[in-house]
Amino acid sequence: MEKHVLGLELPTDPRWVDIAKKNIGDILTDHAYCEQKAATSCISLIMLFHDKEKLVDMLTPVVAEEWDHFVRVLAELKKRNLPFGPQRKDEYIEQLAKLMKKGGSRDQQLVEKLLMNAMIEARSCERFRLLWKDITDKELSEFY
Ligand SMILES: [Fe+2]
Repeated sequence: MEKHVLGLELPTDPRWVDIAKKNIGDILTDHAYCEQKAATSCISLIMLFHDKEKLVDMLTPVVAEEWDHFVRVLAELKKRNLPFGPQRKDEYIEQLAKLMKKGGSRDQQLVEKLLMNAMIEARSCERFRLLWKDITDKELSEFY
């Protein structure tokens, strides 16, 4: 079902949520960096494509929205007395980045960047749903 909704080719390995459940601090830390990266990539798109008025208009409020998510995730860590850990190397993003077509026109590069962001968002959305369904921490489940 998710495949149709989110366009993902493969679902997340079902073992992922079991590991996630036991490592809430790691999940929240990772999540915080995901929100930070979402905000950061909106900012860099705005800077790179400043001349595309519609894009800038659409992305500007998203920066604030993603940063607000970052703030909220940090609050969830604090609430649980969990540390905000260091950023870990993101294998998934590195592999995705390798698939991006290099070169081409500026518009083609924009499309590549947007597609990559859309894939990252789709995967996050799928995983948030898994967390919402499966984690025993009621408050955090609601959060997701
Ligand atoms: Fe977000």
